[in-house]
Amino acid sequence: MSEETKTPPPKIEIPTAPEPEAAPAKKMLDVTIDGKKISVPEGSLLLDTMRGMGMEIPAMCYHYTFSSFGSCGVCLVEVEGKNNNVRSCTAKITNGMVVKTTTEKIVDARKKAIEKHLVVHPLDCPVCDADGKCELQDMTYDLGVYDIKKGVRKEIPEDTRSPVLDFNMNRCILCGQCINVCKEVQLVDALCFYKKDGKTHVGAHEGVPLYCEFCGDCLAVCPVGAIVSRFSKYSFKPWQLKKTVTTCGYCSDGCTLHLESEAQKVVRVTSKLSYLNKFGKETEPGDDHGGTCVRGRFGFQYNQDESRLSRPLMKVDGRWTEIPWFKATAVIGKRLMEIKTQHGGQAIAGLITGRCTNEEVYLFQRLMRSVLGTNNIDTAARYGHMNSVTALQHALGIGYATTTDKKMTLSDVILMVGNDMTETNPVTALRLKEAKSRFEATLMVADTVQSNMMKLASHPLQVAVHGETALIQGLVKAVIEKGLAFPAFVQKSPAAYEALRQSVAGLSEEALARESGLAWEKIAEAAERLAKSKRGTLIWGEGIVSRKGGYENVLRLIDLAMLTGLLEKEGAGILPICEENNEQGAVDMGAVPELLPGQRPYSSEEERARFRSAWHAELPEGIGATLPEILDRAERGEIKALYLVGENPLGTLPVSMRVRQALENVEFIVCQDP
Ligand code: SF4
Ligand code: SF4
Ligand code: SF4
Ligand code: FES
Repeated sequence: MSEETKTPPPKIEIPTAPEPEAAPAKKMLDVTIDGKKISVPEGSLLLDTMRGMGMEIPAMCYHYTFSSFGSCGVCLVEVEGKNNNVRSCTAKITNGMVVKTTTEKIVDARKKAIEKHLVVHPLDCPVCDADGKCELQDMTYDLGVYDIKKGVRKEIPEDTRSPVLDFNMNRCILCGQCINVCKEVQLVDALCFYKKDGKTHVGAHEGVPLYCEFCGDCLAVCPVGAIVSRFSKYSFKPWQLKKTVTTCGYCSDGCTLHLESEAQKVVRVTSKLSYLNKFGKETEPGDDHGGTCVRGRFGFQYNQDESRLSRPLMKVDGRWTEIPWFKATAVIGKRLMEIKTQHGGQAIAGLITGRCTNEEVYLFQRLMRSVLGTNNIDTAARYGHMNSVTALQHALGIGYATTTDKKMTLSDVILMVGNDMTETNPVTALRLKEAKSRFEATLMVADTVQSNMMKLASHPLQVAVHGETALIQGLVKAVIEKGLAFPAFVQKSPAAYEALRQSVAGLSEEALARESGLAWEKIAEAAERLAKSKRGTLIWGEGIVSRKGGYENVLRLIDLAMLTGLLEKEGAGILPICEENNEQGAVDMGAVPELLPGQRPYSSEEERARFRSAWHAELPEGIGATLPEILDRAERGEIKALYLVGENPLGTLPVSMRVRQALENVEFIVCQDP
C-alpha cells in the first residue's frame, strides 16, 4: 500500500516459523557390512552408510556436496553375488545386501587403482602446491603402493588463461569433482573433460570461452595439485602456513574464511569446502556448502598492499608527516574537544562505513553522541538500505529481514526484485540456485537488466527502466482480483485490505503492462505463484532501494508480502539485501541520526533518557544531519570537524553533490580507514 492510501499500516506479529514438515518416513532396508547387520532408509548410498558406521573407506573422487562420479576406483568393496568389485560411492543399498570391505582382493584392487593414477602422474611433489595436502599422496602412503611401473609423462603445457586459476593437467586424476561442483553447486557449468592430442584435459566447453565466476570452488575440491591459485602458486608448503579463521567483510553473506599465512603475510584463503571434508555430511537439507566467492577467496591482497598506512599521517604545513599513534590520538581528541567548546557539538559530524563490525559502530556513535555532543552521524546505508529499514519499521514495527538462509533454500516460490545476487551476495545466491535445482522451487527474478540470476530463473521478468513500481502494483492487483489474498490478512486487517484494493482498482492492466514492460499474463502468473506458495520468499535489493521512490516501493513490497501471507506462513519470509556487508548492523547500532542502538527512535525523549542513564552522559537535542545534510552544512561552513571511518564520500558520491567543495570548507578532517 503506497503512502497515498493514507490508511495506517496494520501491525502484524511476525511468527517464528517452524521448519517445513518432515518428509514421510522411508522404507528401511537390511544390509550386512563386514559381519555387522544394520537397517538403513531406502535410497542410501553404500559409501555413506559405511562412513556412518565409522568405517574408513578411501574415496578420492567423492564429495558430499555433489553427485558421485565414480571414476577413481579406490572405494571398491565386494558384494555377495556380484562377480566384479563394486564402487561404493555410486552403489545404492539393496535389501539383504552383504558387503565386505577388507578382503585381500579389495585391498589389491584399491592399490591397483592408485598405481594406475601414479603411472601417468608427474610425481613432481617437491614443486607442487598440494604437496603435504594431497589425497593421491595420502592414498599412496595409506595403501602402501611402492611398486610403480615405468611412468608415462603426459607433457601437457600448463593452462594459464584464467585470471585466478592455473590448470596443470599433468597432475589431473580425472576425478571430475571440479566439473561437478561447478555444474551442480554453482550452476555455472564452466568446465568439462575434452580430448586434445589424445590426452584428456579439463577446460571450457568446446567452442566457447571459459565462462567462469572465479569462485574457486573447483580449486577447493581438487584432491591433487591440478588446479592452483595464480596468487600463491609455488610460494608455500601447506604445513608452513598458519591458519586463522575469520569472517569475510566484503558482503553481508559473512562467509567463514581460513586465512593461511606465513610470516604475517596472507598466502592464500581456503574454506570449509575442501577435499579434506569430503565426508562433511549435511545434517539437514538447506545447510551451506562451505565455499566462498571470488572476493573472499582471491581478494586478500589489499590486506598487505604497500600503499596501506602502517603509521598515522598528519598534514603539517601542507605536507603529510608520519606521527606516532599516541600523538595522533592526542591531537584528534584535543582538536575535536576544542571545536566542541568553541562551536558546539553541532559543528562536528561523523560518517562510518557499513563494513565495520557492530562493536566498532556502537563505539563510534557513542563517541559522537555522548562525548562530542553531536547527532550528525550517518552511514552508507543512507544510499539505499535505510529505505528498507524505515519502510519495514513503519509498516511492521521491525527493521530487518524475517527469513533465514535455510528457509530461503527450502522455499517453494522465490520472487527477487531489483537485485543480482550472484554479484552482491554470491554465496547466498547458491541458496536460491539450490532451491531451484535441488528442491525444484519456482524462481522468479524481476530486474531491469538480464542478470545472471535472471538467466537461471524459471520466470525471468525483465522490466522496463523505472518499471518496478508498475510491476509491484500489478502483482498486488492480480492477487486481489484473482481472489488469492491470504485469508488471515483479510480477516485481521479488513481496513488495510480494502485500502490496498482501492489503491490498485483504478489501475488498468494495459497501463501496468505498458509501464512495467511485461505482458499482463506474466505479471498475473507471477502473482498467482507467489500467492499460492507454501513457503514463499520475497527478496529486494539495490534496484529498488537505491532508486527514486525506493521507500514507497519497499512499502508496496511489504503490502505484497502481507497480501500473500509471506509474513505469516511457516517457512516464508522477506529479505531486503544491502550493499555493504554490515549496513544492517550499522543501522541497528545507531549510526544514523534518527535511530539509537537497537533501532530506538532518537526523537523519543523516553528512549534518549534510557541511553543518557546507561551512558552517564547528556545527549544532543534534536535529530542530527544525514549524509547529504552534513555535506550541505559543510559547504556552508557550519561543520568544522568531520570524522570519517572507512567512508570516502569523494569516491562514492556523484560530483553533483559537491563533495569536494564541502570537504574543502571543513577545518579538521580525521580519516580512519581499515
Ligand atoms: S572458479 Fe567456480 S565458476 Fe569457475 S570453473 Fe571453478 S567452480 Fe566453475
Ligand atoms: S582438475 Fe582436479 S578436480 Fe578436476 S578432474 Fe582433475 S584432479 Fe579432479
Ligand atoms: S559471498 Fe560475500 S562474504 Fe562470502 S566470500 Fe564472497 S564476498 Fe565474502
Ligand atoms: S570415490 Fe568411488 S570411484 Fe572414486
